[in-house]
Amino acid sequence: KTEKLLSLLDGQPVIPVLKIEEAAHAVPLARALAKGGLRVIEITLRTGVALESIRRVIGEVEDAVVGAGTILDARQFEEAAHAGSKFIVSPGVTRELLAAAGDSPVPLLPGAITPGEIMMAREAGLDFLKFFPAEQAGGAAFLKALASPFAGIRFCPTGGITTANARDYLGLPNVICVGGSWVAPDAMVKAGDWAGIEKLAREAAGMK
Ligand code: 3PG
Repeated sequence: KTEKLLSLLDGQPVIPVLKIEEAAHAVPLARALAKGGLRVIEITLRTGVALESIRRVIGEVEDAVVGAGTILDARQFEEAAHAGSKFIVSPGVTRELLAAAGDSPVPLLPGAITPGEIMMAREAGLDFLKFFPAEQAGGAAFLKALASPFAGIRFCPTGGITTANARDYLGLPNVICVGGSWVAPDAMVKAGDWAGIEKLAREAAGMK
């Protein structure tokens, strides 16, 4: 399933991590990001309109590749998969979640930071993991130190990443992409500044 996930990402260096407060924002936001070159987006289940937003974007934005984020348990995994999410992101690993993902065709990108968490994900057959919260957990230096013992494991760090430090991560051999909310700031979404978001997306899409 890693291959499936990697082909969905298609080399996109930055995955927007979105917290959508109003379902009406979902489609214009996804359009602006896709126009700027960020077709793959993660809509987090941190608001009550997240699943509705996922469904709307899938229905109306052909270009978009929509994943669900902040999935905490098997029930949410099923809901997100049922809504049509192409991939699912969780902040951490649990046995229950790994089992739900094992039974599903939808790939899971679970968070892991410590060697023990990484080994737990590895035992479940996963070798592409989210590293969250990246900056707070030790940043690029921490991630770099994982490359030697965990040679086969690759990461998508998220948490505290911006244009200022994204390249520190993208330059590491065990990093495929980074995730972040900086490409869709709350104030710009609220103001409907889709042109501004498209511009941020274009800048992010050109990284690496
Ligand atoms: C995530 O879930 O990946 C993070 O909340 C994104 O973190 P950021 O808001 O610091 O980019």
